Parts: sequence; C-alpha cells; structure tokens
Amino acid sequence: MTVILYTGGGGRMGTVLRAGLSGEFERVVLYARRDIPDLNPGEEVVVGELDDLDTLTNAMAGVDVVLHFAGIADEAPFADIAESNIMGTWAIFEAARRAGVRRVVYASSHHIIGGYPAGQFLGTEEPVRPDTYYGLSKVFGEGAARLYHDKWGLEAVCLRIGAFRPTPEDRRHLSVWLSHRDGIHLVRRAIAAEDVGFLVTYGVSANTRSWWNNSPSAELLAYHPVDDAEDHLSSVAETDEPEHQGGPFADPEYRGGVW
Ligand SMILES: NC(=O)c1ccc[n+]([C@@H]2O[C@H](COP(=O)([O-])OP(=O)(O)OC[C@H]3O[C@@H](n4cnc5c(N)ncnc54)[C@H](O)[C@@H]3O)[C@@H](O)[C@H]2O)c1
Repeated sequence: MTVILYTGGGGRMGTVLRAGLSGEFERVVLYARRDIPDLNPGEEVVVGELDDLDTLTNAMAGVDVVLHFAGIADEAPFADIAESNIMGTWAIFEAARRAGVRRVVYASSHHIIGGYPAGQFLGTEEPVRPDTYYGLSKVFGEGAARLYHDKWGLEAVCLRIGAFRPTPEDRRHLSVWLSHRDGIHLVRRAIAAEDVGFLVTYGVSANTRSWWNNSPSAELLAYHPVDDAEDHLSSVAETDEPEHQGGPFADPEYRGGVW
C-alpha cells in the first residue's frame, strides 16, 4: 500500500480530500504548521515549517507520494506569496528528491491561465497567462515539477484546479467548477495512475460549458469526472459573464478576498 505525505491537510480542500480518501493508504503523514484535530484513521501529524528542509526531508522518509496543497490560495503581497508558494514549493520538491519520494502531486491552479479571455478553449500546452502573483507562483510550481522530473526522475502530476466547491456559485463556475466528488476521484487517480512521468491536467468536472481540453492527460490518469455544473443552475448567482478565465483575479485592483 501507499504511504502519503500531505501538506495543507488542514485546509479547505485538504479536509474534504482527506475524508474522501480515508482508509485508502497505509499511512498518511500530515505535515503542518500546527496540530490538526480530528484525524482520520491512519493519519499522523508532523508539525514543521515548509522552509525547514531537514524536518521536511525526515518526515518524507518511506513516503511514496507527496500531495503538496499547502500555500496561500488567493492573491497576496508578493513577499508573502514568494515565501509560502515559491520557497515553500521549492522545499517540497527538494526534500522529495533527497528522501527518494516517487511522486509529487502538486496543487496548481487555473489562475496560471486566468489571464486568457473567458470562453477561449485551452489545453495544457498553451503559454501560461497568470492573472495574479498567486497564479505566477503556480508557474514556478509547475516549472519546479518539470525540472525535478527531467533532471532527477521525480514523477510529478500538476493539477490545475478550477473552483473546488460543493456546488457552483457564479456564472464563471459553470465553466471551472470541480465538485468534491470529482476532486476526490482526481486526487485518487493522481496518486495511483502508473507511469505518469510529468503530467499537467485541469482539475475540473465534466461541465457542459468547460473551457478546457483535458485530453490526453485525463485519459492517462484515468480521470473520469461525472458532475456537471449545468445540473446546479438553481444554486448559481446571476453574476455578469466573466471577462477573463480567472474572473475577478484578473482585475488590476484585485488584492484578494474572493475565494
Ligand atoms: N480551493 C480551490 O478551489 C482551489 C483552486 C485552485 C487551486 N487550489 C490550490 O489548492 C491548494 C489548497 O487550497 P485550499 O482552498 O484548501 O486552501 P486553504 O487556504 O484552505 O489551505 C491551505 C493550507 O496551507 C497552509 N499554509 C499556507 N501557507 C503555508 C506555509 N507557508 N507553510 C505551511 N502551511 C501553509 C494553511 O495553513 C492551510 O492549511 C492550494 O495550493 C491552492 O492554491 C485551490
């Protein structure tokens, strides 16, 4: 069975994903800044900072797959983003290499391409177009994944997560929504799929109005989403059509706050 180290396990996604994947792994190490209450069976906490390379490397001993979900998940001053999302992500890849981890599953974001106009159909090969410092930090993360794979053979799966919510909440979500059920399935496949090498895929449900082509990466992962935002129109607020794929994140005045 697989041993997992999870960063960001106490966050919004982590709480949902951990519950959904509970019992599927031999051991789950939650690497966190502070203790996490309400552990699921098989989970243990190691308290440490992301920039503490020795503690991080030690925590990865015997780990097969690292799920790197910790970080600032919104726009923030660049210095903060640089510390948590750039230095922190470098430390994860470096510790994984040192500890002999097989694979890192990296929580990237659709804000890496959030500067593209809404409605433009994209795969994963187009040039990045980040909409924020936050999106820019995900460019670093995907680049680090590529470097550590090409140079040191670390497997890496980068998930460009859309909007992970119980239901879609606004018009933009009709295109970018990732349901909890599909998100859990996606992470399960990102851990278990064989021979992934380096792979980038969108973390998005089977939305009728999706802007993203997930072929062939979704097939390589055997990721088969089942939810469609169109089935939840009653929960969607009557907002304006977004101008950019990143919605408010692409606004020059945006400073964070719209999660
Ligand atoms: N939730 C979404 O819809 C969404 C969409 C796209 C991408 N993502 C990505 O998924 C990941 C998880 O998102 P979330 O919504 O659960 O975020 P969250 O803010 O709820 O959780 C992030 C976690 O990271 C931890 N963290 C932040 N900075 C840290 C640091 N410097 N050192 C150690 N821990 C730190 C926080 O304590 C928290 O537990 C993030 O990387 C985010 O960028 C999320």
